Amino acid sequence: MSKQSVAGGIKEITADDQVSRIFAWRRGFNAMHLIDLGVRLGLFRMFAETSGATPAQVAQALKLHTPYVETWCTTAYSFGLLEGGEDRSFRLAPYIDQILGNPGHPRYLGGYVRLGTEFATEDHRYCLEAFRTGGTVPFQGRSEAFAEVIAETTAGLQVLSARKLLPELPGLQERLDSGGSILEVGCGTGRHLIQLTKAFPQARCVGVDIDPTSMKAANAAVREAGVAQRVSLIEADIATAVAEDSIDAVVMIEVLHEIEPKFRQEVIDGCYRVLHSGGWLLIIDETYPGTLAESRMQEFLFPVQTGFEELTWGNVVPVREEQESLLRNAGFGGDIGRSIVGEGFTVLSVQKHP
Ligand SMILES: C[S@@+](CC[C@H](N)C(=O)[O-])C[C@H]1O[C@@H](n2cnc3c(N)ncnc32)[C@H](O)[C@@H]1O
Repeated sequence: MSKQSVAGGIKEITADDQVSRIFAWRRGFNAMHLIDLGVRLGLFRMFAETSGATPAQVAQALKLHTPYVETWCTTAYSFGLLEGGEDRSFRLAPYIDQILGNPGHPRYLGGYVRLGTEFATEDHRYCLEAFRTGGTVPFQGRSEAFAEVIAETTAGLQVLSARKLLPELPGLQERLDSGGSILEVGCGTGRHLIQLTKAFPQARCVGVDIDPTSMKAANAAVREAGVAQRVSLIEADIATAVAEDSIDAVVMIEVLHEIEPKFRQEVIDGCYRVLHSGGWLLIIDETYPGTLAESRMQEFLFPVQTGFEELTWGNVVPVREEQESLLRNAGFGGDIGRSIVGEGFTVLSVQKHP
C-alpha cells in the first residue's frame, strides 16, 4: 500500500483509487458535454417549465431526435441532474432549475460550462504548440461570444458585489446615496455596472476596460438597459482615464490575475490615486497557493485549476504575498479585509486613509 498527502494528513492510496479518479474525471468530461447540450438545446429550460415530461414530449416540443433525447435523459438521471419515475417521465433535480435552467439566476453555471466545452477546448488544441513555444492567446480581442460567456461566468460574483459586498463596506452606502461614484476596472461587457446603477440609484458609475470587443458590448448593454446617462465607459486602463481623488469605490472582479504581472502595480497605484480619502477598493479575484502543500487544500483547488486553464491566455494567478505587497506599495496602509467566497474566490477590501 502507498501513501499520499492530502489536505488534513496522509492517506493510504491504492491503484484502484487512482484508476477511479481518472474514471471520475473522464465522467466529468461527459457530464460537461451533456450539460452544454442541455443548455444549448433548451432541455434544462424546457424541464424547468414543466413538472414532468417524457423524452418524447420534450423532443417533440424542441424538434429534436427522440432516441437521442432518451439517452440524454437517462444519462442526466444517472448523473443526478434529473429525477424520474419508471413511467419515463423526468423532472429537474433540486436546484438544477436555478443552476442550469435560468440564465438570470445568480447561481447559473451554464456560462462556466460553455467556457470549458467551447473555449477551453479550443485552447487545449493550441496547448500542444504553446507548450513548446510559450505562446499565448490573450483575453482581449477574442470574440464577443467569448466576452459574453466570461460575463455569464462571473454573474454570481457581480450580484454578490452589488448587493452585499459593496453595501457592507463601512460608510460607502451613505457616500453613494449622496451622489458618490463607483469605478469598475476591467468592466468587461458592462453587466455589473448595470447592476450597480440599480443597487445605488444615486451613484455615478464609470467602467474602464482595455478590450475593445467587451467595450462595444458594454456600450450596447448600458444603452439597452436605459442607463447610458449614468454610466461612463472608457476604453483604457485607469492610469490616465479617471481624475485623481474623484471616486468613492473601485471594484475589480476577476481582473487582477488577468493583468500582466509587470503592469499590476501601475493599475493598483491608479486605483489608489483615483480614490477619495475614505474610499474603498474591492477586489474579487483568486489566490494561487504559496506552497505545494497548499495546492491540495480545498480553498486553492479552484485557483490552481484557473492557473492551468488560463495558462495560454497569459494569465498568472497572484499569491497572497503579491496581492498584499501591491496594495501596500500603492499606499493602502490599513487592514486588508480577506475572505473566501464560492468555490475559492478571494475577496479583498482596503480603505484609503488620509
Ligand atoms: C475575466 S474578465 C472579467 C470582466 C468583468 N469584470 C466580469 O466580471 O465579467 C477580465 C477583464 O479585465 C480586463 N483587463 C485586463 N487588464 C486590464 C487593465 N490593465 N485595465 C483595464 N481592464 C483590464 C480584460 O480586458 C477583461 O475584460
